[in-house]
Amino acid sequence: KTKAFIFDLDGVIVDTAKYHFLAWQKVANSLGINFTHEDNELLKGVSRVRSLEIILGLGENVEITEEKKNELLIKKNEDYLVYIDKMDDSEILPGVMKVLDFLKANNQPIILGSASKNARPILEKVNILHYFDDIVDGNDVTNAKPDPEVFLVGAKKANQSAENSIVFEDSVAGIEAANIAGMTSIGIGEASVLNEAKYNFNNFTEITEDFLNELINK
Ligand code: G6P
Ligand code: MG
Repeated sequence: KTKAFIFDLDGVIVDTAKYHFLAWQKVANSLGINFTHEDNELLKGVSRVRSLEIILGLGENVEITEEKKNELLIKKNEDYLVYIDKMDDSEILPGVMKVLDFLKANNQPIILGSASKNARPILEKVNILHYFDDIVDGNDVTNAKPDPEVFLVGAKKANQSAENSIVFEDSVAGIEAANIAGMTSIGIGEASVLNEAKYNFNNFTEITEDFLNELINK
């Protein structure tokens, strides 16, 4: 049988959260706002624009013009891209390649469903762009997770129904989006956080071929 396997990028395939953090921290500090690792959790799966709004909300009465906001968004992405530029395949998270190879060997469509506008360059940097049959990213959709748009477009590209689609996600918003879409949600990360996911694994090394076969043949 054939299913659509849809992967989020940040936090699922690569740990870019640390680079987003460093770049956002610089923005926050320039505004006199304290920004911690804990705060960074709030930004997972969240779009760039929305992330800035959340950071501004962490400050006390920080008011800036639209122009300044746009400037900060550009600055943040420039800083982020400096980190991205240094990435290579050693940054692919444990177990990811094994799962991608298994799905490829079994002719299953592999789709990217990410909020990031930098998805393609990142996949290129870590050398796995060619694994993906289709990419749906922040440049293709207007509604951010938990809106299911990104995953629905992904399933459509794979010619699969939502019911026949499986989503790997590390963010609460992403799991919610997959569930709203009527897809099988698989949380990658802490089960206590991703408690709405249909299945949960700490990372891809815990995902067996038997489990993948079950998903394929369900
Ligand atoms: C992902 C990340 C977020 C990030 C968003 C937009 O969802 O989890 O932290 O803000 O993508 O990424 P971008 O690369 O377009 O700034
Ligand atoms: Mg993510």
